[in-house]
Parts: sequence; structure tokens; C-alpha cells
Amino acid sequence: MKKVAVVTGGIRGIGAAICKKLLTEGFSVVAVDIDPVKNGAWLDEQKKAGFENADVMTCNVSDFDQCQAVVSEIITKYQHIDVLVNNAGITRDASFKKMSQENWNDVIQVNLNSLFNMTKPVIDNMLANGSGRIINMSSINGQKGQFGQANYSAAKAGVHGFTKALAQEVARKNITVNTISPGYINTEMMQNIPTEILDGIKAQIPVGRLGEPTEIAELIAFLINKNSGYITGSNISINGGQHMS
Ligand code: CAA
Repeated sequence: MKKVAVVTGGIRGIGAAICKKLLTEGFSVVAVDIDPVKNGAWLDEQKKAGFENADVMTCNVSDFDQCQAVVSEIITKYQHIDVLVNNAGITRDASFKKMSQENWNDVIQVNLNSLFNMTKPVIDNMLANGSGRIINMSSINGQKGQFGQANYSAAKAGVHGFTKALAQEVARKNITVNTISPGYINTEMMQNIPTEILDGIKAQIPVGRLGEPTEIAELIAFLINKNSGYITGSNISINGGQHMS
């Protein structure tokens, strides 16, 4: 029976690279993303590329009821969920003095509350199966803070607190829970950063370049491997040396 991986924010950027890697490794992969039209186009592409085990479901991860419904649909279809990657995330950058309540709430909803919304229905299935791998996507900016990201840094720091608590609760059931903290990765998200600011950020990266989504996907593949069961509650940085903690 194929292992089943669910990847939120799975059709673009880092999420798409994760899906591709796991499909290549033989998983059944369900990408969960918000836009049904774009989801359909992504699925067509996967099938054309020969990834018969690709699947996609539409869900807004900031909505608890939608997450319950989508997880229930996945379990009905596949019976089990072996891997959950809580990857979906947004930015609404603004210095705190200019940050609206909406910008704050949107980022906390999508980047932090989504972890509750998705993990809550998935964990029961993993507990019943006596195995599972959960990866939560944080960020370098949850570790060090970032000018213009009070909302994002708060949510991403919260991600690791969630990981550490849940990891303790489910360790005996052979479920690992880990955080990955990427630095600046070459995705569409970078296009929102003004060029001169992005150039300044790149200058602070010792390896001298942005990271690639495929490099994050490789780390995920390592963490969900059956031999990685002793790694839990960890936060693994992957940032080109930009922040060492
Ligand atoms: N440190 C200190 N001061 C800074 C600063 C910094 N990093 N950046 C700007 N300032 C200063 C400016 O020099 C300016 O000073 P003066 O008023 O004396 O001229 C002042 O702050 C500007 O303040 P504003 O509130 O007017 O800022 P702004 O509206 O011009 O721009 C911003 C604010 C949109 C947040 C912009 O700074 C920005 O885009 N920064 C990048 C934020 C960033 O790194 N986001 C990461 C996105 S990618 C991601 O999140 C993925 C991941 O996980 C890594």
C-alpha cells in the first residue's frame, strides 16, 4: 500500500517542490490548496508528467470546518495519512506602525491557526495507525525576527512551540513532529520584496544565493524517512548560513 502524504500550499513554490519529490519517491500525494482553478491546472500537469499518484483538494487552511471536511475526504479515499506537511503560508509585510489588524489576523490565521485546523483531524488517524510524520514550516524570521514582519515572525515562532508540545504528546505512538526553518528561498514570495531590500538580504547570506525549493524538499524527504524516527521536536534551519542559532 502506497504511503499517503498531504501537503498544504502544495501547488506552488516550496509546496510544489515537496509534492514533486514525494511523488518521485512513490508516495500518493494530496496537495491541498485554495484555488480550485489553479489546483486543476496543477493536477493536469502532474498527470501529463506521469505522476498518476498526484491528487489535489481545495481547502482554505485558515477555516477549521473546511480542513475537517478535506481530511475526512482524504481518509475516506485513501484510509490513512502517513505524512502531513503544514506548508501553506502568506506574507503581509508592513512595519508595525503601518500594520493593519487585517494584516495581523490574516497571517496568524493562515500561518499558525492552520496548524491546529489541519493537524487536529489528521492526528487521530495517525494515532490509530501507530505511525506518522508531521513537518511544520517555520522560517528564519520566526527565529531572528524581521523588520516589517511582526505578524509573520510571531506566527512562525509559534509554529515551533506547537511542534515541541505536540512532539512530546505523540512520541510514544511512533509519530514524529518537526519544524523546518527555511531562509530566503527562490519562490514567488520573493517578488513582493523590493529589489534593493532583497539585494541587501542576499548580501547577508554566506553561501551567496537564495535557496532553492528543491533543497527544502530534500530535507523533508529525509525527515519522513522510516529511519528518521529519532528526530522529533527539532527545528532544522536551512538558510545558507544567514542565521545560526
Ligand atoms: N532595519 C532597520 N530599518 C529599516 C529596515 C531594516 N531592515 N528596513 C527599513 N528600515 C527603515 C527605512 O530606512 C526607513 O527609515 P527612515 O524613515 O528613517 O527613512 C524606515 O525604516 C521605513 O519605514 P516604513 O514603515 O516606511 O517602511 P516601508 O513601508 O518603506 O517598508 C517593508 C517596510 C515593506 C516591510 C520593507 O522594509 C520590506 O519589504 N522589508 C522586507 C521584509 C522581508 O524581509 N520580508 C520577507 C518576505 S519572504 C518570507 O517571509 C519568507 C521567509 O520565510 C524568509
